[in-house]
Amino acid sequence: MQLNTTFSKNQSMASPLPKPLLPWKTRLAIFCLSTLSSASRRSDGTINRRLFDLFDFKLPPNPEPVNGVSTYDVVVDPTRNLWFRVFAPSSSDTDGKLPVVVFFHGGGFSFLSPESKAYDAVCRLFSSSLPAVVVSVNYRLTPEHRYPSQYDDGFDVLKFLDENGTVLSKIADVSKCFLAGDSAGGNIAHHVAVRVCQQKLQVVNVIGLISIQPFFGGEERTESEMRMKEAPIVTAEIADWHWKVFLPEGSNRDHEVVNVSGPNGVHITGLDYPSTLVFTGGFDPLQDWQKRYYEWLRKCGKEACLIEYPTMIHGFYIFPEFPEATQLISQVKDFIIRQVSNVK
Ligand SMILES: *[C@@H]1O[C@H](CO)[C@@H](O)[C@H](O)[C@H]1NC(C)=O
Ligand SMILES: *[C@@H]1O[C@H](CO)[C@@H](O)[C@H](O)[C@H]1NC(C)=O
Repeated sequence: MQLNTTFSKNQSMASPLPKPLLPWKTRLAIFCLSTLSSASRRSDGTINRRLFDLFDFKLPPNPEPVNGVSTYDVVVDPTRNLWFRVFAPSSSDTDGKLPVVVFFHGGGFSFLSPESKAYDAVCRLFSSSLPAVVVSVNYRLTPEHRYPSQYDDGFDVLKFLDENGTVLSKIADVSKCFLAGDSAGGNIAHHVAVRVCQQKLQVVNVIGLISIQPFFGGEERTESEMRMKEAPIVTAEIADWHWKVFLPEGSNRDHEVVNVSGPNGVHITGLDYPSTLVFTGGFDPLQDWQKRYYEWLRKCGKEACLIEYPTMIHGFYIFPEFPEATQLISQVKDFIIRQVSNVK
């Protein structure tokens, strides 16, 4: 598997393609992550878990507040290792109850977990900045568990919260619930949202969806996929590998869960699909699929808003050194405030 960290090379080419400007610390982190994930992805469609886990630094839950947020884990189904991590702001200066954000991490459906250092940090930051009670879901991973395990796990967590909302901090209000996810997590958030519309919940009320550079695709190669063959973190080639081990044997990327806006996709026009905020980056090869997703939501009559960061790469927001990562959180905050006030 080719490495995709050479974005500063080739500058002597006749008409160099624009490259993202990245601080050296970020480059190093991306280099490590790309090297590790590409070394762990085997061409036979399996993953070298032992290798990946060696460098996937994990944090245990911590009841002591760190940056104003305490965490604990809740088991939903031990037989499939389904659990979630709760991030609850410890300060009591919040007047009234807080919205709940059910979060699905990225990693191509194959890598990482709520315990991974970067995602623990991101959820903690969301929790303290929004503020909100964040529920980060440990869904099963591919290739050991293919589609639809990830959607089943996501929806089962919502059913669990519907019946057992008291496991959350007393300040959590599940009637103001948001689904959120980045990359593969954005794909899961979408499909879980569709299930929530199809199978009503009693107490949990999903009032918004935060879709950060969601992972969608199709057989066709889009302009951005063809132009950015050496983008950091993800390329069309890497995406292909992840779809292959996610989808049922024998299906292609025009499957309904990948090419959601294509003719095979589920019709959502008649569904009470939540208002959606989509983020894209100008150096993300997947951006054309993300924009199609946004346009498709609008075409189906859904409320959707697109925020583009022209100079950002796939996964930028997990790097706190980007000012745009902070900006994204404040835009999510505005969205949440607006949605919560619409419900009242
Ligand atoms: C709610 O919690 C109880 C006790 O842990 C469990 O038996 C039940 O299955 C949970 N509900 C759902 C929908 O998961
Ligand atoms: C994939 O989706 C695009 C729309 O985004 C559509 O033009 C294309 O035909 C789709 N492919 C298939 C075979 O579903």
